[in-house]
Amino acid sequence: MQDVQRFKPPHSATTVAIVDAQWGDTGKGKFVDLLSGWADIIARGTGGANAGHTICIGDETHIFHLIPSGILRDGEGKINIIGNGVAVDPSIIRRELRVLREKGLTNERLMIAYNAHLVLPQHLVMDRIRESSAGSDKIGTTGKGIGPLYIDHVARIGLQVADMLNKDCFVRKLKRNLVDKVAYLRTFDSEIVRKVMSHDDLANGEFYNPDSIFTLEAIVAAYEDHAHALRGMIRDTDAFLRKSVGTKKILLEGAQGVLLSVDHGIQPYVTSSDCTLAGLTKGVGLTVRDVDCTYSIVKAFFMTRVGEGVFPTEFGGEDSAKWCGSKEATKVAEQEKYPNASINSTDTFEQGVAIRLQGAEYGSTTERPRRTGWLDLPLLRYAMQFSSKGLILTKLDVLDECEAIRICVAYKYLGKRYDMGEKIIEHGDEIRVAIPNNDVLKYGQPVYRDFPGWLCKISDIRSATDLPSKLVAIVAFLEAETGAKVVAVSVGRSREQTIAL
Ligand code: IMP
Repeated sequence: MQDVQRFKPPHSATTVAIVDAQWGDTGKGKFVDLLSGWADIIARGTGGANAGHTICIGDETHIFHLIPSGILRDGEGKINIIGNGVAVDPSIIRRELRVLREKGLTNERLMIAYNAHLVLPQHLVMDRIRESSAGSDKIGTTGKGIGPLYIDHVARIGLQVADMLNKDCFVRKLKRNLVDKVAYLRTFDSEIVRKVMSHDDLANGEFYNPDSIFTLEAIVAAYEDHAHALRGMIRDTDAFLRKSVGTKKILLEGAQGVLLSVDHGIQPYVTSSDCTLAGLTKGVGLTVRDVDCTYSIVKAFFMTRVGEGVFPTEFGGEDSAKWCGSKEATKVAEQEKYPNASINSTDTFEQGVAIRLQGAEYGSTTERPRRTGWLDLPLLRYAMQFSSKGLILTKLDVLDECEAIRICVAYKYLGKRYDMGEKIIEHGDEIRVAIPNNDVLKYGQPVYRDFPGWLCKISDIRSATDLPSKLVAIVAFLEAETGAKVVAVSVGRSREQTIAL
């Protein structure tokens, strides 16, 4: 119970949401795990296996892609829900359940929305083929089939979880679903398609057929098997959650981050679900009005992004983006190539490498190095409009040895006149709230404010009054500049390393 006492929602709140106010990977998993001690029900409503939620308990690290992070509260009767808005890949759910069981952590109280959309092999194939043939237009997706799945959703040709339980329905919809994919894939060299479909994630070629591209029977058989394994968990979770609002403690777990939202993120470098509070509530059958308290998780005082797209404060600028997007970039390669990279280096590229290594900023889904940069307030001011002003700052301990901390307070726009209809952005304008447009932001030159670092180890601190004054001053500055209230900070990976403010 101690961790719940250290940080818990207001007494009157029964439905609480956790949303990431950046580009994902801010450490939501830790706070979902922490608050799941408080909650009766933990529900996810967006994204899919593109997410990787990392939780550290004792010496063990757990990474979940689909199962809500509350599953670790084994034996406490918690209900974990995969809501209607989640891209459900049954093979990944089963894999995660298997790992949990092996660790003796099984919590069978998992519910899967009968109306969530199903990730099918063709979604992974389409995602990977599109990315590999997009050249400089690639998004840098995780390859988990997310974009193609949500395309099918809005094109009204997707399959839903309950279809797995009804074979006739499944086969009819599957045939319909495959038509456009097969036509598209036939435009590629068959060897490329075969190679993509031979991947481990695609059952090592089991779904491939050189003539029809997909073996219908193999897909049907695999999903029949999934249906058999998961049928006891498939439920009307929307109805269950609506009934529970106000009577049970509900924790809504966001995925990715506001800046990656398909609706409010920076197009086209976004994921394909709405990662805002509105998207999260919709994805579990609720509305924003049902939520009593929302926390926005913010990595500070640096931030990260994975994949392509603008990143105004990136350490090392384009060189970093290029390196992090290359196939050679791995943690080991970085350690070998930059053995002397320092967090206080005057070479900002090397400074970024050092922060990445210090913060273990490598994708939990793809293991890609995350691009790193200073905290960007124009982006934060923008993102808070779609999440909340109650912030939780994470990973503060990563900068313990940093002598000078920079915060981007605004951009100076150095591009051509940009016409937005009602508003025109002129060369030289100051931008204080980011405009979610890649072509505008790439000409935003960050204006920084510098602060002296706190230069001491904070990971053992457990009380707000013991935090170094230099750190407290930066937090106060952030609050004054954004109108936000920082309600907690995280000074390490474990539940105990959390300080309520
Ligand atoms: P997709 O969601 O796999 O289609 O990828 C689209 C973009 O979102 C890419 O830039 C990914 O790197 C990014 N993305 C997707 N999921 C995550 C995540 O959990 N953390 C960080 N970035 C993500």
